[in-house]
Amino acid sequence: MPKVTYILPDGSETTLDARDGDSVMETAVKNGVRGIVAECGGACACATCHVFVADEFADVVGGPGEVEDDMLDGAVTDRREHSRLSCQIKMCADFDGLRVTIAPKQV
Ligand code: FES
Repeated sequence: MPKVTYILPDGSETTLDARDGDSVMETAVKNGVRGIVAECGGACACATCHVFVADEFADVVGGPGEVEDDMLDGAVTDRREHSRLSCQIKMCADFDGLRVTIAPKQV
């Protein structure tokens, strides 16, 4: 199972095994990682699952789609270069070792 590490706004880290095909958001919510609110349940309609993808994974993970890109413009925490909505990142073997920093404010 690919691993994903969440870096919380306080600097602490949590590493989890993700199920193939589960999103970074789902993996966090299922395991009680704080800081990802996911109000819309993964429909790309709330921007409360905002994360910053680590630089070294930015190319592998890729950028946001058009709808996600629009949603990120309205995120409570200003977007950065590698901002993504974690519900739109589906885990797979290629993403093993992924590191994401959770945006400090989601709502
Ligand atoms: S959970 Fe709502 S946009 Fe990701």
